[in-house]
Amino acid sequence: MKILILNGPNLNLLGRREPGIYGARGFEDYFRELQARYPDVELTYYQSNHEGDLIDKIHEVGFTADGIILNAGAYTHTSVALHDALRAVPAPAIEVHISNVHQREEFRHHSFISAACRGVICGFGLDSYRLALEGILALKS
Ligand code: DQA
Repeated sequence: MKILILNGPNLNLLGRREPGIYGARGFEDYFRELQARYPDVELTYYQSNHEGDLIDKIHEVGFTADGIILNAGAYTHTSVALHDALRAVPAPAIEVHISNVHQREEFRHHSFISAACRGVICGFGLDSYRLALEGILALKS
């Protein structure tokens, strides 16, 4: 089972960025815990602040991975190109957000990528990623 966690812009600053919203923990630390908890899953992690890099990564893994867990950050609310990239590959994607975007500013309420994803999880802090992983495992079982 091969699953990619793909994080978009500003998520490299997790732990330091608006900790009241996103928490005090860095993503690398959380990712190591996730790997230890799911030793049978080949989990990989990639982060970029650049839309084209995220699209390239989806193209690179999307034909071979069993699933993509995508937190596209602010590109969620702007990117038709990410929507198209997700539609272009067979791997199911789960859209993830750490915060509950629907409790926040109105511009965060619309997602361009939800319609290209198998499911959406938001609002559970970093645990949103684990819940998405469970969702992919459930799809495959
Ligand atoms: C986010 C929510 C987005 O609106 C925001 O732009 C982010 C993070 C989240 O994980 O809660 O960068 O995707």
